[in-house]
Amino acid sequence: MTAPLADTFGRVHRDLRISLTDRCSLRCTYCMPADGVPWLRKDSLLTSDELVRVARVAVEAGITTLRLTGGEPLLRPDVVDVVARMAALEGPDGTPEISLTTNALKLPELAEPLVEAGLDRVNISLDTLRADRFLALTRRDRLDDTLAGIDAALRAGLAPVKLNTVVMRGVNDDEIVDLAEFATTRGLHLRFIEQMPLDAGHTWDRGTMVEADEILDALTARWSLAERPGRGADPAQTWVLDGGPTTIGVIASVTRPFCGSCDRIRLTADGQVRACLFARTETDVRAVLRSGGSDSDVDAAIRRCLLGKKAGHDIDDPGFLQPTRPMSAIGG
Ligand code: GTP
Ligand code: 5AD
Ligand code: SF4
Repeated sequence: MTAPLADTFGRVHRDLRISLTDRCSLRCTYCMPADGVPWLRKDSLLTSDELVRVARVAVEAGITTLRLTGGEPLLRPDVVDVVARMAALEGPDGTPEISLTTNALKLPELAEPLVEAGLDRVNISLDTLRADRFLALTRRDRLDDTLAGIDAALRAGLAPVKLNTVVMRGVNDDEIVDLAEFATTRGLHLRFIEQMPLDAGHTWDRGTMVEADEILDALTARWSLAERPGRGADPAQTWVLDGGPTTIGVIASVTRPFCGSCDRIRLTADGQVRACLFARTETDVRAVLRSGGSDSDVDAAIRRCLLGKKAGHDIDDPGFLQPTRPMSAIGG
């Protein structure tokens, strides 16, 4: 039996988040610059064979959940093939769950093929229901296409479909109830997210960040809220509205961090393993793959990376430094 993927704090890792590309069809202000994006070089990106190989080694070492992210993962031309090959992997705990975090623009054409390939779930980013705000926030006029993508996910039977909403002061914080109503009336599970310091411009400000408590106050003005116990390693706390069955989530990574039970590692599109979103160092698994390394060398690289994992993100420490890569290049 292989040893669990543990760090020095005894946290066992079961969730591998794999970025398929740093490219995106939107330019959300909290994630990417408007232009002049320093794209990763094509030849630095892992091929589908390399991605599936790292995923296989990780699943054999005890990873049970593979989440595909980006950038926008659906921009990768081989995404359906990658999903099919990852869904066929097997580890000590059986086949992994395969999920995807997407902006939904390509779901009208891809939702069905992805389900056939073995995709289990999708999480979709939706920060506003107003077209003018969508344009200002994402720098693209694509609200209707996003909404069509959400419908396509529901039609393809991807359940539960989760929505992610990053709440920003003076931008969309007056839409909390509208967005929650939009979601609950369609059977979608929406999570409101505290913005983290991961923007390309490094303009994030702790003082103006909309905190979970404010989000909960806005919801309480409309519904009675009861917290569902048992958050575990889930970033979201879930709240039952008016006795149920509808629920809303809040991801308070800053004010209520889940680092103590974190079970996540990341693989960037250019083949770097990161033990944390906010890690200052990366482990170069691409070099291991491209220098003829064996599966046990890949396994050793992942474990070596985990040994450097810190207890938490330290965002509130005076000496905190934002990662040099923005969210789009780390993988959401
Ligand atoms: P589920 O398995 O559906 O719960 O997915 P998820 O919530 O883990 O994944 P998703 O990609 O939808 O991420 C939603 C939000 O969770 C992101 O916007 C982040 O704010 C936060 N998040 C995801 N991964 C991490 C992480 O490793 N650390 C921290 N601090 N926040 C994370
Ligand atoms: N803070 C919090 N969440 C973010 N996301 C992207 N950038 C940030 C940030 N700075 C979210 C997106 C997407 C998910 C993968 O991460 O909304 O849903
Ligand atoms: Fe895990 Fe780092 Fe995210 Fe905390 S900030 S939950 S340690 S990845």
